[in-house]
Amino acid sequence: MVARRTTPIAVLIALIAVLSACSGQGSGGALSAEAQVGQGLFTQQCASCHATQPDLTIVGPSLAGIAQTAASRVPGQSAADYIETSIRQPDAYINEGFPDVMPKTFAQIFEDHEIDALVAYLLTLE
Ligand code: HEC
Repeated sequence: MVARRTTPIAVLIALIAVLSACSGQGSGGALSAEAQVGQGLFTQQCASCHATQPDLTIVGPSLAGIAQTAASRVPGQSAADYIETSIRQPDAYINEGFPDVMPKTFAQIFEDHEIDALVAYLLTLE
């Protein structure tokens, strides 16, 4: 009797374990949860000016490969520091050949964790 009652529960637990392992793999395959949040914000606030495919200029430069190029823009600034500064203070460094038109309001409209999420997302653009 005891065995009959516990068996379905054991099966259920095993099933839940398998299912959660699968969904974990699915979301972890491409972007972290934080980077996914950043990707959503990027689509809303940045994609009108920045492409993520190479060599496509909308208003600002394409951000394809920014995870690599960001580290070489300003001596002493890591890729993450440079990207964060670009969002909080776009006129701290102006890309040659581009107008100084990136909005200066992101530091006010985004929460700190949202800026972290954007940086995490841009760092996946290798
Ligand atoms: C109105 C258009 C516009 C919007 C919206 C915009 N940007 Fe920009 N962005 C630019 C322009 C133009 C430049 C190049 C001039 C400069 O360096 O400020 C730039 C530069 C950058 C750079 C530096 C790129 C490099 O290769 O050094 C980063 C990083 C960046 N933007 C990220 C963002 C993010 C993230 C958002 C959204 C939160 C955003 N931008 C929204 C226009 C925009």
